[in-house]
Amino acid sequence: MQLDAQKFIANNVRAIPRSGIRDFFDIVQGMKDVISLGVGEPDFVTPWHIREAAIYALEKGRTGYTSNLGLLKLREAISKSVEKHFHVPYKPQNEILIAVGVSEALDLALRALVNPGDEVIYHEPCYVSYSPSIALAYGVPVAVACRAENGFSVTADQIAAAISPRSKILMLNFPTNPTGGTMTRTELEKIAALAQSHNLLVITDEIYSELTFEGEHVSIASLPGMKERTIFLHGFSKAYAMTGFRIGYACGPVAIIEAMMRVHQYSMLCASIISQEAALEAIQFGEPDTTEMREQYRLRRNFIVNALNKIGLKCHLPRGSFYAFPSIQSTGLSSKDFAVKLLEQEKVACVPGSAFGPSGEGFLRCCFATSLEKIETAMERMQRFVFQTKA
Ligand SMILES: Cc1ncc(COP(=O)(O)O)c(C=O)c1O
Repeated sequence: MQLDAQKFIANNVRAIPRSGIRDFFDIVQGMKDVISLGVGEPDFVTPWHIREAAIYALEKGRTGYTSNLGLLKLREAISKSVEKHFHVPYKPQNEILIAVGVSEALDLALRALVNPGDEVIYHEPCYVSYSPSIALAYGVPVAVACRAENGFSVTADQIAAAISPRSKILMLNFPTNPTGGTMTRTELEKIAALAQSHNLLVITDEIYSELTFEGEHVSIASLPGMKERTIFLHGFSKAYAMTGFRIGYACGPVAIIEAMMRVHQYSMLCASIISQEAALEAIQFGEPDTTEMREQYRLRRNFIVNALNKIGLKCHLPRGSFYAFPSIQSTGLSSKDFAVKLLEQEKVACVPGSAFGPSGEGFLRCCFATSLEKIETAMERMQRFVFQTKA
């Protein structure tokens, strides 16, 4: 009998869609002369001293497993850094877990906490993996739509409206992928009060926090009464241009880190020791590199936002991250049609806003983690495309 492989796929996996970004970039791969404002990854190579730390680790024969929680010296350095920059003290011994990127840390948190049917509230448009990760943990994703008029931040009132007796977790990501939205301390305080009065646990994804261009970045974990009900996720991919090292971490209450460690222990075991050694160098000595990259991103952001608005694609100023999220509604095209036609006609790759959830429809994500020169050419091409579309 012929085996029907499709029938063997688990129902919850069958139900999740393929990432809209990956599909789109498979098409881009096969094309020549494309300027990509697509994949959300720094164009900078990891700073040399960090790469050197990885090379030294290999030279010294540091090639084995580490503790499941990760190297103690890295956890100690993370503890110092999080206390210095986010004002939250975590104990390296039992409140910090090193993971394979924020991606794994998020998956561990959800798998450690969610029972089938528990509701997880998150704000949208959001990073493509949030809703599928919740569903893979048998949770129920509950999206709260953010709006351009609000600078894509979320309000406590919007979250309050989404809370039900099944709500268990609130997920936050500021600055936000794909909108560059940030939060004020006042609004975060209201959200913290809500989390406390409804007994919600908060997962905060702080991966873009170093790429905040204006105003203070406040982590909800630092607000009174929140450390004990927050899982703080952070990583090295964006701030130190280390996406390929696959390294991140979670900080949180002892019992939750212990539960996440058990899932990690039986799945990933530990993060790569070579990446952990490189991350140690990054967190101890990489701050000037981050500052330098942020200033480059700031120049590019100012240029691209100005250019998009001039083209007639209304774009709010992203106060963090490396994404511009202009509205393409004035063209009358759907975000997918806009992105596909722009690619076909002008060879510029951007991600349709709809890839980040239904509330992203009508928008386009343009990643400005690429050279100013390429951004300038991309904007000339986009101007021509919009002009022809509207004509
Ligand atoms: C909001 C957000 N969280 C997490 C990740 C994944 O990060 P990592 O490379 O640490 O797994 C990304 C990557 O784009 C992201 O945008």
